[in-house]
Amino acid sequence: MLEKLAHFNRERIPERVVHAKGAGAKGYFQLTKDMSAYTKAAIFSGAGKKTPMIARFSQVAGEAGYPDTYRDVRGFALKFYTEEGNYDIVGNNTPVFFVNDPLKFPDFIHSQKRDLRTHARSQDMQWDFWSLSPESVHQVTILMSDRGIPASYRMMHGYGSHTFKWVNTAGEQFWVKYHFKTNQGVHNLSNELAVELAGKDTDYLQNDLFDAIETGDYPSWTVAVQIVPYEAGLNYPQDIFDVTKVISQKDYPLIEIGQMVLDENPTNNFEDIEELAFSPANLVPGIEAPPDKLLQGRLFGYKDAERYRLGANYEQLPVNRPKVPVHNYERDGIMAQNQETGVNYEPNSEDGPKEVPSAKIHGDQLSGQTGNYPADPDYYSAADKLYNLLTDEEQDRLIENIRLNLGQVTKPEIQIREVKQLYQADPEYGRRVATALNLDLNQFEH
Ligand code: HEM
Repeated sequence: MLEKLAHFNRERIPERVVHAKGAGAKGYFQLTKDMSAYTKAAIFSGAGKKTPMIARFSQVAGEAGYPDTYRDVRGFALKFYTEEGNYDIVGNNTPVFFVNDPLKFPDFIHSQKRDLRTHARSQDMQWDFWSLSPESVHQVTILMSDRGIPASYRMMHGYGSHTFKWVNTAGEQFWVKYHFKTNQGVHNLSNELAVELAGKDTDYLQNDLFDAIETGDYPSWTVAVQIVPYEAGLNYPQDIFDVTKVISQKDYPLIEIGQMVLDENPTNNFEDIEELAFSPANLVPGIEAPPDKLLQGRLFGYKDAERYRLGANYEQLPVNRPKVPVHNYERDGIMAQNQETGVNYEPNSEDGPKEVPSAKIHGDQLSGQTGNYPADPDYYSAADKLYNLLTDEEQDRLIENIRLNLGQVTKPEIQIREVKQLYQADPEYGRRVATALNLDLNQFEH
């Protein structure tokens, strides 16, 4: 009885500080187009190659038991068990993000989480932050559009969001963006249905994914990339490392490279999904991190969070362990398992594991000023383009969604500040939201 009670008392571990609510499944990625001209990564070499993988989809802000159908960005995190070790793409169902400075990430998330005193989530907090962060207008427009409430994890696109670097065997470098196009079609929920489902089935998206896979209706995505030559990327009219913006598909069209299929449910949700640890720093030779400041912050953030959430040896947990032998000189620590014997220092004369020269990072030539400097001050043109791409009906629903959310803000100055941002994206966009909120148009028009 003591053992049982003691173990029971220790069943809970910290939930993810963000993306706590989610669901995952296993499957594979099959390459249909050999990409070895652009990257030496084995996963992208040899058409037909199948690589096992695991995916986890999630909400961003809510806690582990939060309703699935609340308006939020959805996480789209993928771990590929490649023959060279694990490669993670930790993206979202949106091609851009709210901020581009990692210093602002905890502040952004605090504005989405619970108020310190009321312990409630607050429209005032989130719109206060957004209205003071003009770089967020593009992503706020996506979040308030139909795509803010997907009808199913199976029916949304995924994006790597950042621009990454590919390097081929000749040492030539390319910039790359990942797109995962759902083969089930994009479907979203109306506000009314989302509210109804939140009451009827808190785990609606999780159950939908599980049930589809359980009945053999395997979801799949067409994987495509945009490839930008190295120099052209550096000279592109906009900063291609600014994650608040997309790269035009007219300039760099999508190239289809494969299919991703999810065909197996977790065997044990705790071991397969809760212990799953993604990181944008899990890279393989031929894929490197770009000089994107937000991504550079993420390279640190995830593994640090996972050492806290799962312990120092979290990479030895079965779901995080590569499916190929791992050799390194890490030793011991809490819950260490499967340690190699042999010398644990390097260099050594005992024929211990050696660094693989071909895995060395290629690196970039850098010049300029270091420091904490503002990013590209063009905050609005991307949101302008997006607004004008929407159909009339989609625009109507966008305005209505902003009215429903921004309309709950209690401080008029926050509403006014946000509407000023929308005006700068497109005066019609701002005017329509101002009218929907019954704000005096004179304060924006002059
Ligand atoms: C989860 C940090 C931006 C997508 C997490 C976690 C942390 C974190 C600490 C929890 C990790 C864990 O406990 O396993 C950050 C920081 C960011 C940032 C510091 C910016 C500086 C982004 C962006 C995206 C993203 C731009 C997408 C493009 C995700 C996803 C998860 C996640 C999908 C959930 C992974 C899972 O399913 O386990 N983030 N994040 N994050 N983040 Fe971020």
